[in-house]
Amino acid sequence: MVQIAPSLLAANAARLGSEVKKITKAGADLLHLDIMDGHFVPNLTFGPHIVKQLRPLTNLPFDVHLMLTNPQGFIRPFAEAGADLITVHVECADNLADTIDMIKKQGCRAGVALRPKTSISQIIPYLPMIDLVLVMSVEPGFGGQAFQKEALNKIAGLKDLIGTKKVLVSVDGGVNPVVAPACRLAGADILVAGSAVFGPKNTAEAIERLKHD
Ligand code: DX5
Ligand code: ZN
Repeated sequence: MVQIAPSLLAANAARLGSEVKKITKAGADLLHLDIMDGHFVPNLTFGPHIVKQLRPLTNLPFDVHLMLTNPQGFIRPFAEAGADLITVHVECADNLADTIDMIKKQGCRAGVALRPKTSISQIIPYLPMIDLVLVMSVEPGFGGQAFQKEALNKIAGLKDLIGTKKVLVSVDGGVNPVVAPACRLAGADILVAGSAVFGPKNTAEAIERLKHD
């Protein structure tokens, strides 16, 4: 069954701890943490210190999405802060194979993300080394944007490329109960959702609606 990864970007930043506890209780499968550097994307979020402080509050795996031009120097700090899965962008990482290797040497699972305009063919050389592909269905940088439908073809195309390999496909950006069925049908294993989880009053119901029709 599809897994739901609420994106903390849409949480109330004045009470992150209770927001993490809330989504844990409501049935989330992973916690998605968006890390931005103001360079790869025109926005800033938070760093390893905050991730470390959140780590004791939940048993959910931490799915750390690095939107950084130079991610290599941050692999170890985020791994030590408690990341279980670290995803870097195919567009920004020089020596991507080395970066993936660094992630794995830290004992984390490794993911590679694609901006909406990046072709899935760019991922092919890395498929044997990674655990997850993150398909961005909005331009990275901000929550609350509209889902770009082209992501659906990319998800389906990736599933074909992946075949029997053990690589998960995650989709991130504008995922809501209206587009979730198409994402699941296309083969997404993980749905990342910010506004659609933290927006509604009933969080458990919001997560349930993303999982099932
Ligand atoms: C955007 C982030 C997403 C974002 C999703 O750069 O990678 O994780 O927070 O938020 P929604 O679901 O509101 O589009
Ligand atoms: Zn993200």
